[in-house]
Amino acid sequence: MNRYWSKQIEVLDPYTPGEQPQDQQYIKLNTNESPYPPSPAVVEALKNFPCESLRRYPDPESDQLVTALAEYHDVDPQQVFVGNGSDEVLAHAFQAFFRQDYPILFPDISYSFYPVYCRLYQIEYRQPALDESFRINIQDYASVNGGIIIPNPNAPTGIALATGALRELLADNPESVVIIDEAYVDYGAESAITLIPEFPNLLVVQTFSKSRGLAGLRLGYALGQDHLIEALQRVKNSFNSYPIDSITSTVALASIADEEYFQQCRKQVMASRDRLSSLLQQLGFEVFPSSSNFVFVRHADAAAETLYRELKSTGILVRYFNKARIDNCLRISIGNDPECDALIAALHKILT
Ligand SMILES: Cc1ncc(COP(=O)(O)O)c(C=O)c1O
Repeated sequence: MNRYWSKQIEVLDPYTPGEQPQDQQYIKLNTNESPYPPSPAVVEALKNFPCESLRRYPDPESDQLVTALAEYHDVDPQQVFVGNGSDEVLAHAFQAFFRQDYPILFPDISYSFYPVYCRLYQIEYRQPALDESFRINIQDYASVNGGIIIPNPNAPTGIALATGALRELLADNPESVVIIDEAYVDYGAESAITLIPEFPNLLVVQTFSKSRGLAGLRLGYALGQDHLIEALQRVKNSFNSYPIDSITSTVALASIADEEYFQQCRKQVMASRDRLSSLLQQLGFEVFPSSSNFVFVRHADAAAETLYRELKSTGILVRYFNKARIDNCLRISIGNDPECDALIAALHKILT
């Protein structure tokens, strides 16, 4: 251990994000970014941004942005919390709700940042196993616990739970905060937001990184009843008063205002996903049913790691997880149609 480090730093196991190579132009199908640029309204807002205002600190409460998100989702502004990417919102939520006497629960195959936060905040966790077809069994979460977090749709499987199952999960666990991480919800799953008035233990987390094509902006948010939002604000105001800079607020407001473009992009991604899924099936892949902007696939005859490497050498990046149960699967983000076609052509060459 370095003699200058705090003791806890040594035991941290930091998250490894998907590759963001700077060395060459890849077709990037590895980090679930949007294949489409942000709305033209965003570009216009950036062009017209009053740079002079940057000498001032931003509004610490991001009131305008919070109000716009509240209107968009039909909740009260007191039910909205914004943060620097949903990763930051999630980190604050782990800190605010999950430091309890019992382990928290999340699926054995899900977003790999969750165990990282657990280490950071010294939270015990248990990971109920997905079934053979990578589905979540809600009954596995009906035991005493310190909290529950589930991505819906799940990542990296892309499989979604219906609102009925989420309602059962929330009703079974009235003493725990249940976080539904909806990073990919805009690609065909049902949002749990409609359940907020009914369940004081529900926190829904969403992001601008995927369906709004703004991963580089870093904006995420949580929706839930006032008492949960107040806890998040207490953590945030003990950590960084200004997580949302003034450029981010301006850009996000422009994105929210352009509903037509948002709908067009997410529908196009869903159409490309369905097309890519059937092309992959024709190449002998098993494609798990995706409600996301990625597909999770495996091939009966070809090892996933080999496919990952060979695709990379032809300039196409997909995500391979060297992890028990899924080390023969690939997660492929949905690109635009020419990118999907290039992937299929490359796979065809590799497999035949
Ligand atoms: C399930 C899930 N949640 C949250 C995030 C974090 O998104 P961001 O911090 O970009 O909002 C991701 C990113 O890939 C994700 O897959």
